[in-house]
Amino acid sequence: MTSFTMEEFLLANQSLDPTRIPAHVAIIMDGNGRWAKARHLPRVAGHKQGMEVVKTITKAASRLGIKVLTLYAFSTENWKRPTSEVSYLMRLPVDFFGTFMPELIQENVRVQVMGELDALPAKTRQAADDAMADTAQNTGMILNFALNYGARDELVQAARSMAQEAKEGQLDPTSIDAQVVADHLMTRHLGALADPDLLIRSSGEERLSNFLLWQLAYSELVFTDTYWPDFTGAVLESCIVEYQARDRRFGGLTS
Ligand code: FPP
Repeated sequence: MTSFTMEEFLLANQSLDPTRIPAHVAIIMDGNGRWAKARHLPRVAGHKQGMEVVKTITKAASRLGIKVLTLYAFSTENWKRPTSEVSYLMRLPVDFFGTFMPELIQENVRVQVMGELDALPAKTRQAADDAMADTAQNTGMILNFALNYGARDELVQAARSMAQEAKEGQLDPTSIDAQVVADHLMTRHLGALADPDLLIRSSGEERLSNFLLWQLAYSELVFTDTYWPDFTGAVLESCIVEYQARDRRFGGLTS
């Protein structure tokens, strides 16, 4: 658990090693509701502020040299929330891309959206498709939204599609290895960068909530008490400093 004082921020920023920035950072953006409740505001006010923070952190991550930023925007379980909140969350991508597209293009950021996109409302789906098309030529950081995403659902779909290919004689079951599985996951478009180096979860909760269960096998996990609407570039840098202090052995020994 990490909670930061101003002194720790300054210390952290001094010790950030710009040569060891994690290539792929994934974030579970949690705490919007509690942030709003603490201000006697409706929950959706937290989501609105959370969307503004996505803009700030996208720019901060791009400028730090992060190659892929994956953000958990809506899970396959979030449909259980009240209809009014779900409707608001479904409108956010429309607002986000509607207001932020010029800056995404200026920052050379490429947008990808992964998840069960067919189940999204038409306007949300259209906003996602347009954002991907409008930034397809950008060569900088990939801003990878997980939208109506669930890792178990992803693994079930991968199993189904491998079984189907095997049935049709296109895939030899004995050739299925970790790479073949990875090639059937929703992160396949990220190639060698599919697995996050660093997972951050905001708001003090310490669980994965059905996010990237396969891809996080060897990721470093950093938890911060900061609610997502209060998250800043300085908090991101502090999380990266914590990541840089870890000894990543991938099951082996320190060299
Ligand atoms: C979790 O907080 C947050 C979400 C379910 C939604 C996350 C969405 C955003 C941050 C905005 C996304 C922006 C775009 C561009 C799509 P919570 O509501 O579970 O908070 P709580 O645990 O405090 O109730």
